[in-house]
Amino acid sequence: MAFIVLRPFFLLCLLVLLTCTASLLSHDEECLALFQFKQTIHHQNYDADGFQKFESWSNISNSDCCLSDGVVCSKGHVIGIDWSGRNLTGVINSSSTLFELAHLQILNLSMNNFVESRIPPEIARLKQLRHLDLSYSGFNGHIPNEFSHLMLLSSLDLSRNPLKLPNPGLEYLLKNMTSLEFLDLSGVDISVGSGSFSSVPRFLANFSSLRHIELRDCQLRDEFPSAVFHLPKLKHLSMGNNSNLTGFLPEFHNTSLLEKRYLFSTGFAGIIPESISNLNHLKVLSLQICHFSWHIPGSLHNLTHLTYLGLAENELAGLVPSLVSLSKVTILDLPYNKFEKGSMYGWINKLTNLNELYLDSMNIHDEILPYLANLTKLSIVSMSQNFIYGSIPSSFTNLTQLIVIDLKINQLQGQIFSSFLKFKSLEYLTIGYNKFNGTVGLESFLGLNKLEVLSIDQNSLSFVTTSNYTNATLPELSLLGLSSCNLKGFPAFLRFQTKKWKP
Ligand SMILES: *[C@@H]1O[C@H](CO)[C@@H](O)[C@H](O)[C@H]1NC(C)=O
Ligand SMILES: *[C@@H]1O[C@H](CO)[C@@H](O)[C@H](O)[C@H]1NC(C)=O
Ligand SMILES: *[C@@H]1O[C@H](CO)[C@@H](O)[C@H](O)[C@H]1NC(C)=O
Ligand SMILES: *[C@@H]1O[C@H](CO)[C@@H](O)[C@H](O)[C@H]1NC(C)=O
Ligand SMILES: *[C@@H]1O[C@H](CO)[C@@H](O)[C@H](O)[C@H]1NC(C)=O
Ligand SMILES: *[C@@H]1O[C@H](CO)[C@@H](O)[C@H](O)[C@H]1NC(C)=O
Ligand SMILES: *[C@@H]1O[C@H](CO)[C@@H](O)[C@H](O)[C@H]1NC(C)=O
Ligand SMILES: *[C@@H]1O[C@H](CO)[C@@H](O)[C@H](O)[C@H]1NC(C)=O
Ligand SMILES: *[C@@H]1O[C@H](CO)[C@@H](O)[C@H](O)[C@H]1NC(C)=O
Ligand SMILES: *[C@@H]1O[C@H](CO)[C@@H](O)[C@H](O)[C@H]1NC(C)=O
Ligand SMILES: *[C@@H]1O[C@H](CO)[C@@H](O)[C@H](O)[C@H]1NC(C)=O
Ligand SMILES: *[C@@H]1O[C@H](CO)[C@@H](O)[C@H](O)[C@H]1NC(C)=O
Repeated sequence: MAFIVLRPFFLLCLLVLLTCTASLLSHDEECLALFQFKQTIHHQNYDADGFQKFESWSNISNSDCCLSDGVVCSKGHVIGIDWSGRNLTGVINSSSTLFELAHLQILNLSMNNFVESRIPPEIARLKQLRHLDLSYSGFNGHIPNEFSHLMLLSSLDLSRNPLKLPNPGLEYLLKNMTSLEFLDLSGVDISVGSGSFSSVPRFLANFSSLRHIELRDCQLRDEFPSAVFHLPKLKHLSMGNNSNLTGFLPEFHNTSLLEKRYLFSTGFAGIIPESISNLNHLKVLSLQICHFSWHIPGSLHNLTHLTYLGLAENELAGLVPSLVSLSKVTILDLPYNKFEKGSMYGWINKLTNLNELYLDSMNIHDEILPYLANLTKLSIVSMSQNFIYGSIPSSFTNLTQLIVIDLKINQLQGQIFSSFLKFKSLEYLTIGYNKFNGTVGLESFLGLNKLEVLSIDQNSLSFVTTSNYTNATLPELSLLGLSSCNLKGFPAFLRFQTKKWKP
């Protein structure tokens, strides 16, 4: 039996005799090395499906490792291991037999739990590696310098591990990886190096295969080389959360394939050029918490594929132009700029795909709420610190998906609805510091079991609590604002509140 099973491989080896002799290990030896590697790691969750699959391959000498879960072979050699998302744990150290698999081109151990492991320098022995994915897998310590020998890599993902990149830094690491298409080092601390070792290397702009660059939360420094924006295949550029990384947006050409651009929380400054409208494929533009100044370019309305527009917390001035043509936008995030007093009547009501609308501190002097009636997909309305007047219209109850309503610090007046009960998903309601008057009762909030934050303070309201509630109908609040609410006694329902405030 064993003879019959082995024969095809014997023949295969004869056929590819040249490659077989060039390799260090035979097919069986590779399977043994893989098996020994597998024995050093184990599955955390003994009940899961993944565990069954993983463990079913228990005795290598009886079976062909190429047939086992997540293993790919070519010409009798193990060229791929994909054990991603299997809840694996264990220690991979320098003597691991993994590093004997010299033909390995794909290694995917992402989404596991190797918290006791560092990445051994011996990884550099896997010189044929094209795709290396160790993201979300707990590896810690330093990224070994020997990584730079992996010159054939086309995708490298070490993101979301507690890793550090020491001297000589990013430049040394990437210099020889000229075939890179996909690079994600998000969460790797690159500040450990000194001087220019924490900056983004200029030569990245010459890596013409790059289509995905993600270096979020890397503690990068210095000026970002703008030429990188012009990489011909670049679709995804994500440099967010690097507050010491400075840079400017270049003039854009209409040959760009860029779809997603995240630069939030960086030191980028200067203007947003009109030529941004040349980015015909752009879907995500995330420029929050930078230092952009001047105006929102009028040409922005040409970016009709945008689903996400984030410009909050910059120094943008002038008027917000009509964005009526951005009909696919689901998230509009513009707060805390220096916009002039303007009106949004003409267009905001047409953006019917909006899920999240953030317009805080935007100098809005409109009676804007009636214009939201058709935006029935809204889950977040955040418009605090404006001069919005009028009352909350009854059409507002059309917005039954709302989770967050933040209208604090405005000029709103009139009665509050007798009932917010239509908002079954409501978690956050703050309407303090307005001019609401009349009475509002506890029963307006009974049954809103997801409500966590309720703040109606500093109005001309009187808050009355009835007593016919049951514990089951009370929301479990973590924040309640009732100051200046004309309370006539201590609200009895508070005795049944158990949550601690989570800031
Ligand atoms: C490497 O790990 C294996 C088991 O996982 C262990 O037997 C061996 O002693 C370790 N070697 C070193 C050098 O730590
Ligand atoms: C991984 O293990 C943890 C606990 O050990 C378990 O809660 C989780 O559901 C597991 N995940 C998978 C994908 O099996
Ligand atoms: C693998 O199979 C061989 C022969 O069939 C047997 O002698 C050996 O004990 C098995 N090893 C394991 C780990 O099950
Ligand atoms: C690794 O596996 C994950 C999950 O299956 C997948 O999303 C990712 O694209 C894979 N990485 C590579 C380099 O193939
Ligand atoms: C990069 O490649 C060059 C030429 O092949 C080699 O001399 C150099 O040592 C390599 N650099 C690194 C950091 O591996
Ligand atoms: C930014 O640079 C300053 C001065 O070098 C340093 O103190 C700070 O920790 C840096 N911040 C980040 C997020 O890297
Ligand atoms: C973009 O919009 C401007 C007007 O703001 C228009 O003149 C221009 O032709 C548009 N460009 C493209 C590429 O559609
Ligand atoms: C809501 O949509 C209807 C039908 O499309 C339209 O007639 C109405 O004017 C819209 N209301 C607002 C406030 O935009
Ligand atoms: C919104 O509410 C108003 C009044 O309550 C109603 O006339 C209108 O048909 C509703 N619109 C939608 C889109 O449900
Ligand atoms: C609320 O205030 C308005 C004037 O702003 C007033 O006309 C109305 O009578 C007040 N309502 C109550 C219930 O106090
Ligand atoms: C509480 O009592 C009032 C009138 O007495 C009634 O209208 C209301 O529906 C009651 N609320 C609940 C939650 O039972
Ligand atoms: C609410 O529950 C507490 C104990 O969990 C109980 O003492 C109290 O009587 C209940 N109150 C109401 C109104 O159901």
